[in-house]
This record gives sequence, structure tokens and C-alpha cells, in this order.
Amino acid sequence: MRKLESLSFRFDGEKILILDQTLLPQQKTWLDVTQPEAMIEAIKSLRVRGAPLIGVAAAVCLVRQAELGITKKDLLNLADALREARPTAVNLMAAIDRLREVMQNNFQISALVNMAEKIFSEDIELCANIAKNGARLIQNGDGILTHCNTGGLATAGVGTSIGAIRLAYESGKKNIHVYIDETRPLLQGGRLTAWEMAELGIPHTLICDNMAPILMREGFVQKVIVGCDRIAMNGDFANKVGTYNLAIAAKYHSIPFYVAGPYTTVDVHCASGADIPIEERPGHEVRGVFVSGVGQVQWSPANVSVRNPAFDVTPAELVTGWVLDKKVLNMADIKNGGLLACMP
Ligand code: MRU
Repeated sequence: MRKLESLSFRFDGEKILILDQTLLPQQKTWLDVTQPEAMIEAIKSLRVRGAPLIGVAAAVCLVRQAELGITKKDLLNLADALREARPTAVNLMAAIDRLREVMQNNFQISALVNMAEKIFSEDIELCANIAKNGARLIQNGDGILTHCNTGGLATAGVGTSIGAIRLAYESGKKNIHVYIDETRPLLQGGRLTAWEMAELGIPHTLICDNMAPILMREGFVQKVIVGCDRIAMNGDFANKVGTYNLAIAAKYHSIPFYVAGPYTTVDVHCASGADIPIEERPGHEVRGVFVSGVGQVQWSPANVSVRNPAFDVTPAELVTGWVLDKKVLNMADIKNGGLLACMP
């Protein structure tokens, strides 16, 4: 495989390295995750995260093992293990399935290498196209509320909703302001998006998740733009838990609510959001804070009962527009099979 490099992911010709996202922004540590067990652990623990990037990382891991000569049977077992590392982001399954198809039709290392390289470079291109489509929706002077982290850390390219914000800013809309939900429980907004915004020099303000509605009421927010982990055919979509709250609050305040994602996040097998599997994570993430770079603090009673769904589903009726790499769809487009028309 050729060398690959993005903000938080590298293949140096031999080793696969990730910028450990559980340590950011306190520490910038590159971890060697070439070994499949290390990659699976990194995906499960969110050291590498974001729907597009986990697909890319898993694909490169699988193909590196093929290059190193593991048997077809072991490769197929590894494909299953990678595919199951996290259940909600469909990009992971889609990337592995593309490689499984190559294994079934043309089991040649060179064909697998071509596919892994394609998955990586395609994600860069998809992000660039989403950024172009999304940036057009942003007016100079807008306050834009976003959730979780959807930037360069979460993809091989410039990101999805953050990519759109970044392009709007870099193409001259210098008076935008980004409001960042901290994104409990694992704080992807407070740690990762706040770091990316600072690195990019885009004006931003961090808020706790429960502060979004008051900012909307006070007129600070003109648009909400979020990412997604899986889009169903009726336009319902799963994203980091807390997205649904924002969509409801945006609707109440008549604020446009956009979701941005590549075609690799569209699941043609999910008719509606009810079909999307939602990852339930361990209770300790909610009983306190358990993020390596932040530390481990438990403030709740040790045995308190906890629910910890990592994602929620936002119904299509709350969405103003779906910003895909091909085009921006509205509800009428969705009803006319617009998502299917965006598939290659
Ligand atoms: O659990 P995470 O941090 O992987 O969740 C990520 C999100 O929910 C993102 O919004 C989504 O994957 C889109 S990233 C471009």
C-alpha cells in the first residue's frame, strides 16, 4: 500500500499510526495500531473515531494483514471482527464489505490494495464535495451550532459539517461563529472540535449540551449543522446522542437544521431510523468522566443504574437539508428517492 496521511491517521509504508483521540487535546500521541487487536481496541475505545475514519482505518488494517501474508480464512475472520467493532456507523461495514467483495471476486493482494487506497482517497474527495455543498448554505455572520466532532479528526479529509464550516470561513465568510456542544459523555465537542476550531483559527465558543436552546432563543444560532453515522432511506439519521435534542430545539425556534455526510453513510438496507442499531456503551462513562486525556473521575454513586446510548436517531421531519457529497437534498427530494440517486 502507498503511504497515507490525514490529520489523525497515517500509514507509513509499514505501520498504521493513529493520533490517539482519547488523549487530545492534552497530549498528541501517535499510537502504532498495525496489529489487528490494537486496531479493534482503538476503534472500540474511540482512540480512532468518526464514522468515515473508522471505515478507512479498518480497511487499511485488513489490507495490511493481507500484504503481510495472512491466509484468506484468517482475513475473512478479521474482516468480521473489524466489522463488529462498533455497530452504528455504517461506513465501517460498508468499507469492510467492499473489501470482502474483492476477496470473493478477485482474491489478489494488488486488488485489495487498490480498494483500500481508493477508500482512503475517496473519503478525502467526498469530504471536499460535502464542504462545497455545505459552505453555500452558510451566510457571513451566521452563528452555527455543531455537535460532537465531524472534522479532519473524524475523516480522511476536511470533515463533513466542520468541512463545510471551514470552507465557508476560508472562502471569506470571516464573521461566522461556531458554537460547540461539549457532547457528553465522551466530550468530543469540548475536546476535539474545540481543538480543531482553534487550530483552524475559526471563532468559536464552547457550551454545555443543555445550553443550546437558550442560545437559540437569544438569537445567537442561525443554523445547526451536524454529522451522521447512518442515514436511513426515509431521511431519518443516527448521530452522536444529543443530536435529536438539537433538532427539536431548532424546530421550535425555526432555525434551519442540516445534516452532512457522504454517500458511504447512507444505508440502503435501512428503511427508517427504527432499523438503525444503536450502540450502548458502559455505564462508567456516564457515572463520571472516563477519558484518558482528561482522567477518571466518578461523581455518581458507584452502583447507580445508567443508560448510555452512544447515538440517537433524528426523524427526517426535523431536518431542513441533507448535505451529501453529490448535492443538498430537501424533504421532497428524500420522498422522491433522492438518497438512492446519490449512491454511485
Ligand atoms: O462515537 P463517535 O465519536 O465516533 O461519534 C461520531 C459522530 O457521531 C459523528 O458526528 C459522526 O461519526 C460523523 S463524523 C464525520
